[in-house]
Amino acid sequence: MIEVSGLTKLYGPRTAIQDLNFTIKEGEIVGFLGPNGAGKSTTMKILTGFMPASFGTAKVAGFDVFDSPIDVKKNVGYLPETPPVYLEMVVADYLDYAARLHDVPKAKRKAAVQSAVERTGLSHVSKRIIGNLSKGYRQRVGLAQALVHDPKVLILDEPTVGLDPVQIIEIRELIKGLAGQHTVILSSHILPEVTATCQRIIVINKGKIVAQDTIERLTSRMNQGLVYHMEVKNPSASGISALKSISGVKAITPEGPKLMIEIDPNQAEIRDRLVEAAVQEKMGVLEFSAEKLSLEDVFLQLTTVDQTVDQTTPQEKNV
Ligand SMILES: Nc1ncnc2c1ncn2[C@@H]1O[C@H](COP(=O)(O)OP(=O)(O)O)[C@@H](O)[C@H]1O
Ligand SMILES: [Mg+2]
Repeated sequence: MIEVSGLTKLYGPRTAIQDLNFTIKEGEIVGFLGPNGAGKSTTMKILTGFMPASFGTAKVAGFDVFDSPIDVKKNVGYLPETPPVYLEMVVADYLDYAARLHDVPKAKRKAAVQSAVERTGLSHVSKRIIGNLSKGYRQRVGLAQALVHDPKVLILDEPTVGLDPVQIIEIRELIKGLAGQHTVILSSHILPEVTATCQRIIVINKGKIVAQDTIERLTSRMNQGLVYHMEVKNPSASGISALKSISGVKAITPEGPKLMIEIDPNQAEIRDRLVEAAVQEKMGVLEFSAEKLSLEDVFLQLTTVDQTVDQTTPQEKNV
């Protein structure tokens, strides 16, 4: 449903995003996660046909965002960082206006507005002026305008930013309810946001994708290596030095019967060898475990450790 290849955007001399590649299948809800300034909004503006890329291509619902921006806009609902709502307008009138902008035929417009209002829980405020609504309700109006033409793809840029905890939960539930009927890509700079709503995440940092996977696989991948804990009955000096001599072991810190074993993360799997050596040395293994990183740790690692991502030259677009 979304295919991005070699996507790059320069603002003057500054590279906002560099050589992004990803695909999103129909019906998926994907989180676009990264710290402020990572390039999330830039990518979304390109995907919605709002702004051209410098290099690379993006296809949404089968249409190239550069060659067929009108077709792309028909198939996409976009909630920008700052919702494009007119504060002095009445909710239903504004949504009717949004439907007209999206070329919804006159005969279908009333039903389209009605459906968007119902799906976003706005029925009881549809006659009210947008400026008098709470921030959470204004955000619902923003979602409703993105939905009013029943697009295949929804692109939501930080949909819960600035809302209070109750409103955040409500908006998340709303978005989850859209799964299946739409393909959704939503951005966030906070991890719980995407773990609460998305099946898959794409992590972006400093304009580059540093990871993309399902939430479970991302956590388990980052769990390999790093730190193991071994508890033994008899933590002998000779046993510890035997463990230390195994290739890939960076350091061992004994704390009574507990050994903290730091591993070179690039090393192949060595857990078998660690346990074998401990048994051979008759240390009496009681427990062996890998340190569980939380997703929060994973995100921090991905976005704070210097990444050595391939820097392939982006294909210049023929214009
Ligand atoms: N219109 C612009 N002109 C110049 N630089 C910009 C512009 N918009 C964004 N940037 C820069 O591009 C980078 C990515 O920004 P953005 O896509 O807004 O990130 P995010 O949405 O992840 O916070 C940042 O370094 C930002 O300062
Ligand atoms: Mg942004």
